[in-house]
Amino acid sequence: MIILGIETSCDETAVAVVEDGEKILANTIASQDEVHEAYGGVVPEWASRTHLESLPVLLESTLKKANVSWNQIEAICVTQGPGLLGALLVGVSFAKSLAYSLHIPCVGVNHLEGHLQAAFLEAKVSYPFVGLLVSGGHTALYDVKNVGDSQILGTTLDDAAGEAFDKVAKILGLGYPGGREIDRLSRYGNKETFCFPRAYLDSENLHFSFSGLKTAVLHQVREFEEPFIPALVSDLAASFQEAVMDVLVEKTRRALCRTGYRTVVVAGGVACNSRLRERFKEVELQKNITVFFPSAKLCTDNAAMIAAMGYHSIRQGKASSYSFSPFANAPLVIGSP
Ligand code: KG4
Ligand code: ZN
Repeated sequence: MIILGIETSCDETAVAVVEDGEKILANTIASQDEVHEAYGGVVPEWASRTHLESLPVLLESTLKKANVSWNQIEAICVTQGPGLLGALLVGVSFAKSLAYSLHIPCVGVNHLEGHLQAAFLEAKVSYPFVGLLVSGGHTALYDVKNVGDSQILGTTLDDAAGEAFDKVAKILGLGYPGGREIDRLSRYGNKETFCFPRAYLDSENLHFSFSGLKTAVLHQVREFEEPFIPALVSDLAASFQEAVMDVLVEKTRRALCRTGYRTVVVAGGVACNSRLRERFKEVELQKNITVFFPSAKLCTDNAAMIAAMGYHSIRQGKASSYSFSPFANAPLVIGSP
């Protein structure tokens, strides 16, 4: 079954063609970083307008790359939510009208389930597993029993991990989005220079909080005179990054203990982080568990993961009618909204 996937939940316009939920024929992304950079964060109205401009062009080039014709596409799967409502509305309306004109099903996909499905496009992952989703909009731990059957174990009570990376990058004058730059700079810094808070590490719950950490970095920076010497910026970046990683790794370890599972799937943009990958390698060796990380292009927002997840929804008989609507907020049990 050849599926066209469309993703427009935030600031990446993405289109993909995937066969049988696992073979990527084409996976293209038009980043909007340049559009939002000047504002230091995503401007929702610009995101919607840019999706509208990019989608038709991206669609043409993706089909060409996949070497498939319109009559080979059997269904269209599109991100239904969570995300920016205006941005989602552009993708959903585009997907529905396209599917309607081709007389094929249109399926709404949960973006978070899509992220958790990304690892399956590159590796043989088996259920059940603990899913750690760390992106710019979400940070949560899931008990993933099977495809489309996940329950939340803990979530962030304020900022998402990626959001904290982006805000701290802004404080350090590193541009937007800043996660990748903090990751790069941290390699030159000393992670022990500053001792930043690790929220909720002393409590048994599996929740996260990153807004106090971001504020602690801000207070530390205010104590210095600008401009800082470069070494200080990399020390700040490395110390901040280590505080985030300590919490992510420790809470995931506790989720493994609680569920008794031996497999972890890490997903979302922050899963690109090189230190997170290093830290989980250590856990793998010490605890005899298996940790899956998708490659960078499948960690950040993409449409291949949406097509892959949509394929399973169709197989489970969950194909939506054309009447579904986008939703902005994440439900606690993921599966069909
Ligand atoms: O999954 P994603 O593309 O979008 C959302 O669904 O939010 O994640 C984007 C987030 C941004 O906050 C970005 O700064 C962060 O992922 N990110 C990273 C790295 N690469 C991207 N954070 C830390 N280290 C990285 N290498
Ligand atoms: Zn995402």
